[in-house]
Amino acid sequence: KSEDEIVNIVYITKDGKKVPVRGKVGDNILYLAHRYEIPMEGACEASLACTTCHIYVHSDCLHKLPDALEKEEDLLDMAPFLKENSRLGCQIILTKDLEGMEVQLPKATRNFYVDGHVPKPH
Ligand code: FES
Repeated sequence: KSEDEIVNIVYITKDGKKVPVRGKVGDNILYLAHRYEIPMEGACEASLACTTCHIYVHSDCLHKLPDALEKEEDLLDMAPFLKENSRLGCQIILTKDLEGMEVQLPKATRNFYVDGHVPKPH
């Protein structure tokens, strides 16, 4: 892969540890985390049916992301520890613009389908 496709980003774990990773254009933040064994859960496998991939996007990069779909917003409303800069990691795809982005994992996520808060969709 040519150098200009590389996008370096930093994950911050819930303990505050910074983990720099080398992604590339088109990578999904959730699956990229898994490649580096960063504990981002992703219970619904990026199908917009959970909030376990909840992350905080550094304010420097937040405006560079495409707006969240309504479905993403609705799910985020149910996420524990919601903040202004909350997004669902599985909906974020790397672009060259996002070079240097920091994304932080929340203290905890909740898989509300498993917990029984919300019935599973059919
Ligand atoms: Fe379930 Fe992202 S992995 S919404």
